[in-house]
Amino acid sequence: MGERIPGRSVESVIEQTDLSLLLDTSTEPMNATPNDSKKRIEQLKHLQAWETQTARLLGGWQPAVRLWEAKHAIGLHLWRDLQTAGELRTRLWELRVSRPDGSAVVESVLPAIKILACAQQDFEFIAGLYLGAKKALAEAYRAYLEETHATWDVPSIDILRRAAVIKETKIEWAEAYLAQVATSDERRHIVERWANYAVEVITAAGGVCGEDERSAELPPPGYGCLLPFGECKRDDRFKVQLQGYDRPPIDDDEAHTLWQFVSYTIEMQAAETLASVLWEGEGMDWEFYYDVARHCYDECRHSKMGEERVRELGHEIFEIPQFTGNYAWRQLYDPMRRYGMLTYIIEQDSFALKHETYKNYVKIGDTTSAEAIMYDIIDETMHVRLGAEMGAGID
Ligand SMILES: [Fe+2]
Ligand SMILES: [Fe+2]
Repeated sequence: MGERIPGRSVESVIEQTDLSLLLDTSTEPMNATPNDSKKRIEQLKHLQAWETQTARLLGGWQPAVRLWEAKHAIGLHLWRDLQTAGELRTRLWELRVSRPDGSAVVESVLPAIKILACAQQDFEFIAGLYLGAKKALAEAYRAYLEETHATWDVPSIDILRRAAVIKETKIEWAEAYLAQVATSDERRHIVERWANYAVEVITAAGGVCGEDERSAELPPPGYGCLLPFGECKRDDRFKVQLQGYDRPPIDDDEAHTLWQFVSYTIEMQAAETLASVLWEGEGMDWEFYYDVARHCYDECRHSKMGEERVRELGHEIFEIPQFTGNYAWRQLYDPMRRYGMLTYIIEQDSFALKHETYKNYVKIGDTTSAEAIMYDIIDETMHVRLGAEMGAGID
């Protein structure tokens, strides 16, 4: 059906984001009324909570999103959401709110998030999250920018301008994705129905700024939650197999290099495991979600690095079956054990191979492969350190 599409339009939307971030001055604050700092602080507290919890929910669904390019985009989006939450939290700290995660704020956000989780199909979920929650966030940022004091609140204005542009670009991405994936009348109907329902849920929850009146009860969805997902999904272009590949001899340069970079494409499973941890790790310190989101995006980048190098070597990843068994077996363990295994054991144990192959690429003059491996080693060193810090925190 409509999912068999090239990723260019989706990716070009993402690339636009970073260029336009620094240039946006489209919403000018008004200075119309004296600013109410208590109200602004409450808004910022709720906005950072919505950014954090929607990022976690995106993580929960990422393994079940079928379109390969969308899976990559979601890895970036959830990292951007946590970065925005981090900037809002820094501003709250300046405004003398040292602990923005009070239970009242989190409790006001989570019920709606858990309902948005109940979509039954990936494109339906994207419609609700992006056209419901992310659109509400974009509108809230614009409204804040119009209302706040143009001199007193400049540090917030800088952050919220950037946040608004990021959200608006993500909504644009979702509209492009939905136009490509929801190609039948039935799918378009599902998209519209769930997006409208998401708006109703968020409105009933008091909006994303926590200032509107809340309904006594949120409207229940007509069906149950599918999260967490036991298997990761691939779109129809891929062949999928449960087993991995045997390593060719290192002196068979062509076969070994192809094997190594195909293996990088399969690191999407690591991204999917981390995305699942983001959702399933409930009640963690905010910094944990920030680190896991970065780690998840890094693994998407490693997968992309593999894809690009495989193409340079004269192949397309769709020719080579994808291995999905690692995600499936890791889902058998609780999320913290899963995170510990990935960082402390799997990533920790991967350095010997990486160093051996790096030296070999230098020896045979394959600078591109050597540099790719070096960037990966740098990322992986950080990932192992994050896992060790988490382990030390648990002890
Ligand atoms: Fe990696
Ligand atoms: Fe890693």
